[in-house]
Amino acid sequence: MSNRLVRWLAVSMVTLFPLAAAAAEPRASARIASPDTRIAVEVTTDNEGRASYAVSRDGRPVVAPSRLGMMFTDTRKFERNLAIVDQRTRRHDERWELPWGERRHMRDHHNELRVTLAETSGPERRFDVVFRVFDDGVGFRYDIPRQPGLEHLSIAEELTEFDLADPATAWWIPAFEWNREEYIYHRTPVEEVGQAQTPITLRTADGLHVSIHEAALVDYSGMNLARVDGRRFKAALTPGIGIAKVEVATPFATPWRTIQIGERAGDLVESQLILNLNAPNALGDVSWIRPMKYVGIWWEMHLDRKTWASGPKHGATTAHTLRYIDFAAANGFGGVLVEGWNIGWDGDWFGNGETFSFTQAYPDFDIEAVTRHAREKGVTLIGHHETSGHAAHYEAQLEDAMDLYGRLGVQAVKTGYVADAGQAKVRGDDGALHYAWHEGQAMVRHHQKVVETAAKHRITVNPHEPVKDTGLRRTYPNLVTREGARGMEYNAWGQPGNPPEHEATLVYTRLLAGPMDFTPGIFGMDTKSGTPMATTIGKQLALYVVIHSPLQMAADLLEHYESRPDAFQFIRDVPADWDDTRALAGEIGEFAVIARRARGGDDWYLGAVTDDAARDITVPLDFLEPGRRYTAQIYRDGEGAGWRTDPRSLVIESREVGAGDTLVLAMASGGGQAVRFVAR
Ligand code: NOJ
Ligand code: CA
Repeated sequence: MSNRLVRWLAVSMVTLFPLAAAAAEPRASARIASPDTRIAVEVTTDNEGRASYAVSRDGRPVVAPSRLGMMFTDTRKFERNLAIVDQRTRRHDERWELPWGERRHMRDHHNELRVTLAETSGPERRFDVVFRVFDDGVGFRYDIPRQPGLEHLSIAEELTEFDLADPATAWWIPAFEWNREEYIYHRTPVEEVGQAQTPITLRTADGLHVSIHEAALVDYSGMNLARVDGRRFKAALTPGIGIAKVEVATPFATPWRTIQIGERAGDLVESQLILNLNAPNALGDVSWIRPMKYVGIWWEMHLDRKTWASGPKHGATTAHTLRYIDFAAANGFGGVLVEGWNIGWDGDWFGNGETFSFTQAYPDFDIEAVTRHAREKGVTLIGHHETSGHAAHYEAQLEDAMDLYGRLGVQAVKTGYVADAGQAKVRGDDGALHYAWHEGQAMVRHHQKVVETAAKHRITVNPHEPVKDTGLRRTYPNLVTREGARGMEYNAWGQPGNPPEHEATLVYTRLLAGPMDFTPGIFGMDTKSGTPMATTIGKQLALYVVIHSPLQMAADLLEHYESRPDAFQFIRDVPADWDDTRALAGEIGEFAVIARRARGGDDWYLGAVTDDAARDITVPLDFLEPGRRYTAQIYRDGEGAGWRTDPRSLVIESREVGAGDTLVLAMASGGGQAVRFVAR
């Protein structure tokens, strides 16, 4: 451990120095390469002054020349008659630390190219495009200075394109559909993608893995990709609440458009590019942020055994919550989520957000008594603010709501925006209510406000039906996790639940964006529809390692844990915060093997999940510390296990292992395996 630290400190100084002086004369092209020189970006202008960028790796094109530009609602677009009038480069090598996360030590090592494009006719406006090229990919953004006629930007569309050079298979979910981010992933040739959300993941014909996404989505609309023809995509920003998709004052820099590139699928998982492109921590001391596992009054509502609404089946009663708090304390969990505690759930709460109070509890939920008991037991309540997408109504109570939780020692809040796409509600500058998209600029601003208000009260936030993750947890470390994909709840409802390949797809798609509150840990396997869940208990345990979330739920009913203490032991042991992460093996949508070292500890944990195919995967244990012995506590699919046959069959066994050994991970259909390596 100490050697690692010394090595890290030795190179942890920031180095910033120019690679080349600014060009004195306009040039038709500009070029920059990654620190290892393998990835290169070239910016060019054509005869009509249209600007393009291209990305190559080892001299082979990855992104063919693709357009740059921007269209406005109130002034001529930035697209033609452009010339490169300036280009500046610099190197950057910086070590920094994540206060919590999938690893502790980060390295931001990139070469930057800032290209200034100016119009050669008309008002001669100008803007910069900034490229950062890392060994694991490229990020670029528009940086638009304040200038006459551009004091304000009313952006109609970004004219950014991504023209993929090689045939590829794509894993993607549709954009602009009613169920937002909660779709089963398509796997199609890239030529069959329609309008896709990001991250979109691609595997090219010669095996390169590519993910297109964005970083640092602040005061802007989320970017989707619309296929134009062949393998060419253009940015399709989420609509705003007026004619423009984005309204901002200059100077303004857009979010980064990112292209992560790796040889293995796992290289995308290990990439640090998204976080490196976000601004450093803006909150100062964040030692109050506590990653934790939690249980909660939740799954029973999704199975219709309890209700959010008041009445005989009300879940969030004082007595029921006290039972959860005692269970959490006895089993080392940090939190208890309580949904349905507040006034507003009676009637049709879906789409009726104006009925919610975020400060008034139902009469059978004594919030003072419950939080007092929790504090005495060293457990925190995880608060719940379901807004039904009515962000304006929530904002009106936001300060009071966070103040209440802050005073009662509630350290985390799960927010929710259950409303169809385009049906969120925000208050415009005109004072009127407007319907809004979940990932439009108005909602991006709303989430920012929630996160900043929560931080003032030392509360972490976990939004469901959120804006996609673009790495803002670096800047706002209290934005610990979020939903933003089909989570475990789809298995409770069934018809259909998540397919067996879902988790092995998420690892290489949604989870590249950041942590997810997937809510694993279901042993019970009952579903509302009677449709079987595509999982085994082995897979449920593996998900605690495979899916990173600093708020990690044990989602099942407490009695199911009490009746399987053997399997439950892994959930008790596994941490929610890590020093290191390795993607050991995997193929998108087929299987994934992830190993992580506990934050501040020596133990390693491994999780492996598979799709419908049973498979044996052999992994070298060379991630373990050389020369050290470990006890591998193995939780694997047992005899006859399989999601259709016997999801509950599990074998638990121990072996002595070291870094020179290999482990064969045997997984059943829809199954998985979890291993704890206890350092000796
Ligand atoms: C949808 C969320 O994903 C789920 O976790 C929550 O229980 C319901 N909304 C109610 O807020
Ligand atoms: Ca949801």
